[in-house]
Amino acid sequence: MNIKKALLIACCLFLVIGLKAQDKSSVYTDQYRPQFHFSPQAHWMNDPNGMVYYNHTYHLFFQYYPNATVWGPMHWGHAESTDLIHWKQLPTALFPDSLGYIFSGSAVIDSNNTSGFGKNGKIPLVAIFTHHDPKGEKEGKDNFQNESLAYSLDNGTTWTKYKGNPVLKNPGIRDFRDPKVMWYAKEKKWVMTLATKDHITFYSAPDLKTWKKESEFGLTQGAHGGVWECPDLFPLKLNGKTYWVLIVNLNPGGPNGGSATQYFVGNFDGEKFTAMDTQTRWLDYGPDEYAGITWNNTGTRRIFLGWMSNWEYANQVPTEKWRNAMTIPRELSLKESKKGIVLASAPIPELKNIVAKTIQLKSISVNKVVDLSTKINGFNSQYTLKLNMVQLKDYTIRLSNKKGEELLIGYDQQKEQYFIDRTKSGKTDFQKDFSGRFTAPRLATAKASNLTLVVDKASVEVFADGGLTVMTCIFFPDSPYNNLTISSAGNLNLYNVQISALKSIWNK
Ligand code: FRU
Repeated sequence: MNIKKALLIACCLFLVIGLKAQDKSSVYTDQYRPQFHFSPQAHWMNDPNGMVYYNHTYHLFFQYYPNATVWGPMHWGHAESTDLIHWKQLPTALFPDSLGYIFSGSAVIDSNNTSGFGKNGKIPLVAIFTHHDPKGEKEGKDNFQNESLAYSLDNGTTWTKYKGNPVLKNPGIRDFRDPKVMWYAKEKKWVMTLATKDHITFYSAPDLKTWKKESEFGLTQGAHGGVWECPDLFPLKLNGKTYWVLIVNLNPGGPNGGSATQYFVGNFDGEKFTAMDTQTRWLDYGPDEYAGITWNNTGTRRIFLGWMSNWEYANQVPTEKWRNAMTIPRELSLKESKKGIVLASAPIPELKNIVAKTIQLKSISVNKVVDLSTKINGFNSQYTLKLNMVQLKDYTIRLSNKKGEELLIGYDQQKEQYFIDRTKSGKTDFQKDFSGRFTAPRLATAKASNLTLVVDKASVEVFADGGLTVMTCIFFPDSPYNNLTISSAGNLNLYNVQISALKSIWNK
């Protein structure tokens, strides 16, 4: 090869690599694009689906419509990560077919090949999802949602739908969907938790194909302001004792309007779930966490992920090329509280993988207002803020921009409530209920308190009192909130204040 030719090839290579890099960064730099939360490169996304940890990889499938930025015929999109923070979007996994759209569901690793889908020693990854037949729905039938299977022998890259679909036929319940399946080792069987309109129905199967009804739960328990959707069932330990947690998403009827995630704590004996009391518990009180469930096969860790939106306005939010992101993955644990045993959530510790810089402020005394804006200079509205206080008092944290648009987060001591106010947060008029002030009860009993905020361009996740009270909220300001103040009427003493700048996961 002569020098000229070699130079030409080198130039072309540089150009191709350069263009590729530019492609990637320009996809993820549009206004409102989260920099460390998963969002699809383009088009519509709702619920997380098929979350499973396999071969050192976390899989995240999701409700996806690859032809528009509004909800449409559902597919399963696919992304993967080795640390739950850096995501890579992969080709679409499941497409609609003659049985209908591919609605929400779960995925399991069938290590014993109970399904018989495994071949030549290859372990099948099996997706259990709802086939939603839009024709049947239009015709006014009541059995247009049925449960079906697909399997993959190459780590979720390519999928084959089972010829015998559907494997669980609808007995005549219009809302019959979102199967979450787990292996119940004690009885060597699969257990399916299914949302059936206004309650949960449990099924079991030895082989993922022949499902038998075990029991029902919830007709007279929990919140019933809307349809029950996207359930989850898993054990968690507290003080050496095992409890079972049953997550049930609800739309509408959430504590702050629209969609939200409730859950029950109790016992599951392989057939039946029994709640330990009749209280309604909310996993996240904010307006923007929905359809949240947990990963399968993560050992003793329970990692939760929600869709960071609300059906009230998910189709109208002012993003252009894509719509809706996921929450930050959260580690769940059980804790004692004012409401008895409750779920606490914490942002996963893997967030440290993208910390660019941490500012430590030993103690701050807030008497009126403390301006921390210079501390977040250059953080591009991508950071975590951690506060500790020996004695909880009224306070307001204000995220704002030069135009005066603001998001207020705080605590109201008299009402014993946390709040988020996005009334003046920027664009709010795309839907009548977007603007508003949202509240959540304090569940901790101690005088001392702490708070973690996870801020990413157009979203904040609030974890108060070690994650006993959680609120997620999205917002759409004209320009990023580069200002940060904390105010309090009476001497609020903060210690161990920590602000960490977080790097974008999209330009490694
Ligand atoms: C929840 C949900 C599910 C359904 C899916 C359809 O957000 O309504 O019940 O399977 O979305 O996209």
